[in-house]
Amino acid sequence: MARRRMIYEGKAKILYEGPEPDTLIQYFKDDATAFNAQKKGVIEGKGVLNNRLSEFFMTGLNQMGVPTHFIKRINMREQLVRMVEIIPLEVVVRNVAAGSMAKRLGIEEGTPLPRPIIEFYLKDDKLGDPLVTEEHIIAFNWASQQDIDDMIALALRVNDYLSGVMYGVGIKLVDFKIEIGRIFEGDFQRLVIADEISPDSCRLWDIETGQKLDKDVFRRDLGNLADAYTEVARRLGVLPRSN
Ligand code: C5P
Repeated sequence: MARRRMIYEGKAKILYEGPEPDTLIQYFKDDATAFNAQKKGVIEGKGVLNNRLSEFFMTGLNQMGVPTHFIKRINMREQLVRMVEIIPLEVVVRNVAAGSMAKRLGIEEGTPLPRPIIEFYLKDDKLGDPLVTEEHIIAFNWASQQDIDDMIALALRVNDYLSGVMYGVGIKLVDFKIEIGRIFEGDFQRLVIADEISPDSCRLWDIETGQKLDKDVFRRDLGNLADAYTEVARRLGVLPRSN
């Protein structure tokens, strides 16, 4: 059997060459990292849960007409996705003050925001993914003004969808991060949601108890991460079966 060609290995996922042109296989590892990989761990079963959960959210978005790179899940840890050119920005949407924004601005974690706040961070591990403004993005050619407008529109649609789905199972969507990629079709480019959407990239708080059901459990040593993700999957009805 031929060995697959690895295209890229990240902190939580590996990308392999896909079976068709312009496709990739995205493999979800059990590795967990935080604080720009200064804290590391292996959480057994995390990759399986995130593969399932990302499939669930991306499928829902595709059905709502929000384009994503997701094609189909292949097995417990892998999904087939479209190859995209990743825009080198992390797009964060916040509904409630938490994490780095709460710290940077001295706002108490848990303070509701009057409207969703969108932030861009430059994807650069060496620099620790710094916050950047639209002016920086244009000046340094990371994306065009049109791209920024399209990214904001996509991010807000993802926020509406995810907030609604999570609210329906008693979970508050505090914030999340998405990555966006370009697909070229002739002379046109389309932006699509790429990477993953999972409790690794969202803050999810139980509405009743405030219990954290996301990667902060690992970042802040609050308990068992796999149990938290399993609870999210159970509420959404996407618990992993045997394949
Ligand atoms: O750390 P911060 O408060 O800026 O994170 C905002 C949101 O983006 C959180 O949900 C976090 O999990 C996510 N995030 C991420 N990957 C990063 C940075 C933040 O998924 N590199």
